[in-house]
Amino acid sequence: MMRILDTCKSVALIFILLMFLRISAQAQSQQSSNEIFAAMRMESIVDSLLAKMTLQEKLGQLNQFRWVYGENEEKIREQYRAFVKEGKIGSFLGIFGVEKTRELQRIAVEESRLAIPLLFAFDVIHGFRTIFPVPLGEAASWEPADAEKSARIAAIEAAASGLHWTYAPMLDIARDPRWGRVVEGAGEDPYLGSQMAAARVRGFQGADLTAENTLLACAKHFVAYGAAEGGRDYNTADISERTLREIFLPPFKAASDAGVATVMAAFNEIAGIPMHAHGQLINGVLRDEWNFPGLVVSDFTGILELQNHGVAGTRADAGILALKAGVDIDMVSSSYLEDLPEAVRQGKMPMSVVDAAVARVLRLKFQAGLFDDPFRYQNDEREQNLLLHKNHLQAAREIARKSIVLLKNENQTLPLAKSIKNLAVIGALANDNRAALGSWHGAGRDEDAVTVLRGIREVIPEENISFANGYENPESLDKSGFAEAVALAAKSEAVVLVLGEHGGMSGEASNRSSLELPGVQNQLAAAIHKTGKPVVVVLMNGRPLSINWLDQNMPAILETWFLGTEMGHAVADVLFGDYNPGGKLPITFPRSVGQIPLYYNHKNTGRPPLKEVLWTSKYIDIDWTPLYPFGFGLSYTTFAYSNIVLNPKNISPSGTLDVRVTVTNTGKVDGDEVVQLYIRDEVGSVTRPVKQLRNFKRLFFKAGETKTVSFELDASDFSFYNAAMKKVVEPGYFTVFVGGNSQDVIEARFEIRAH
Ligand code: GLC
Repeated sequence: MMRILDTCKSVALIFILLMFLRISAQAQSQQSSNEIFAAMRMESIVDSLLAKMTLQEKLGQLNQFRWVYGENEEKIREQYRAFVKEGKIGSFLGIFGVEKTRELQRIAVEESRLAIPLLFAFDVIHGFRTIFPVPLGEAASWEPADAEKSARIAAIEAAASGLHWTYAPMLDIARDPRWGRVVEGAGEDPYLGSQMAAARVRGFQGADLTAENTLLACAKHFVAYGAAEGGRDYNTADISERTLREIFLPPFKAASDAGVATVMAAFNEIAGIPMHAHGQLINGVLRDEWNFPGLVVSDFTGILELQNHGVAGTRADAGILALKAGVDIDMVSSSYLEDLPEAVRQGKMPMSVVDAAVARVLRLKFQAGLFDDPFRYQNDEREQNLLLHKNHLQAAREIARKSIVLLKNENQTLPLAKSIKNLAVIGALANDNRAALGSWHGAGRDEDAVTVLRGIREVIPEENISFANGYENPESLDKSGFAEAVALAAKSEAVVLVLGEHGGMSGEASNRSSLELPGVQNQLAAAIHKTGKPVVVVLMNGRPLSINWLDQNMPAILETWFLGTEMGHAVADVLFGDYNPGGKLPITFPRSVGQIPLYYNHKNTGRPPLKEVLWTSKYIDIDWTPLYPFGFGLSYTTFAYSNIVLNPKNISPSGTLDVRVTVTNTGKVDGDEVVQLYIRDEVGSVTRPVKQLRNFKRLFFKAGETKTVSFELDASDFSFYNAAMKKVVEPGYFTVFVGGNSQDVIEARFEIRAH
């Protein structure tokens, strides 16, 4: 009897399994047939519109204007409304809000001849109304899941305000902290940058681009914008193809693989060819090599600037060069709208090139769901309820906390006791709402930002806190505030000294020739230091700073970047121990600007630096090593690494390697550790970096807890471009390094066999 029952059970199980497989196969085939149907419908809409469009209407779709604010705004807006009606504008930059976007969309779909909906774009870089840490700060969390979450929330809020398209994520690898836009990216490493790129694209675009809470993302600035010589924004980039392919292109490839809808061309040239005219990279690599199906938009006047670059004699020539190179939309140069009709008539611009670009614009609008419902993103209730939602603020606080990096903590200065009776908070930045938001803060409002001072005031009683600006603003040379600040410090039990840059000292065009603390802040720090009180430095900055004096003299230093709307709460959580900081630097901090460029994945050279040997690659006046290395960050606890095991000991070029390491929280406090895995190819047919990040995991450890952390490496992790610029995996010996930063590591060797 039992046997019969067992048999019946197994038959039933098999039947259920088969049904499940059939249903899931059907579901998949249903999904793929839905996708096929949608694609067919999209192409039929595109083809039928192209067949009806006049040349002017076609070029109108390739034309983007920025909504105007300020002088003569109403007169210019009236002209733009007329252009929309005439089909001369396909998209706008810089307009948001349900009411305003709904009115423009209504004109497009009800008053223009072909009723083609408009796209509304805006720079939603690290939040829309709820502002998250600046991207460089968020990268310090080494938590792609958080980057995805913040982008998701940014999309929810921006789309609720009528927006379809964000000009983010910014993916420019930066090795020169003088460059203002280092604040906007994910730092110096292509692997970390690629992980953040894909995460942010997933966050912005969500699972369904037609949904009313998703945004079209834009991978920018294509490409090597961060290689600007001298760290001067917009300047020449002159790099090898190998550096281009191994350092600057990977985050864009990751974004393309993640399905990013659009790409923005960069302002710079690379080795003589301006990116807005770079057909080899836009059409050649992005489109042909990577099969990127999406749209490329120019950067602001990037097409017009081809004349300054000296590759176009007229605006019309610039427009022809750009459209032929693959730049589909002209952001505010007006060249496509005004010059290309004649270029087409003269046979200088094939209609096939125009049609291909217009088709990409129309597809983008279809993908955003605008042909189904042009007003899908205009909903007053969503706009009322979603901006600055309490859940968004809570997420912003959690992500901000994880972005904080503890650079120094001697004598257990941190965390501070909440029972402290007299805490002096010094520094104007502590009370600077705008600074907390950082650059490119979307529709963020100063008044929503929680400052460091407010964050502290919400933890300890007002009567136990004293505050002084100390400096008037970060760049001020005025020392008249020192006396009051020193007096408060002298009477206090401890000092929180907030130093750094204001939000406008990094970001577009905000390049610095120095990496020192601006103004007289070092002098203020010295004066406070003389009081002999324990001092916690809270750094607010958008780039690495050469804080040598602080590092030598101050017992505790927190790197807090610009953490956004919840800055003060996040900093206070860490200051008073409610959160144990676990962030790691996504970019090297040099001792001096004179060391730039300085990055961890450098080559060994023929004479690697040796302190005791003069004739090696170093300086005679300072230590050649970084002040803080890439991947560096401390914790209120400590971690130990041991027992690295590689299995097997050798692999074929297509094999996989299992890496295991034992990590222990050897302290008394729970905390996160970012376990980082680097490799080195010991001998290659071309020179290889001394280290390359190839994986990382941010893990939580209870006090005293030990974990075996494992990684799997495969051929793609060991590949590089050989002398012939072919991507290869070469046999030979490799070293694997694992640690809590790029310098303090344990290592083991393995071999890749010839086959
Ligand atoms: C700016 C920036 C770019 C931004 C665009 C639109 O010049 O380079 O990142 O998306 O203009 O604001």
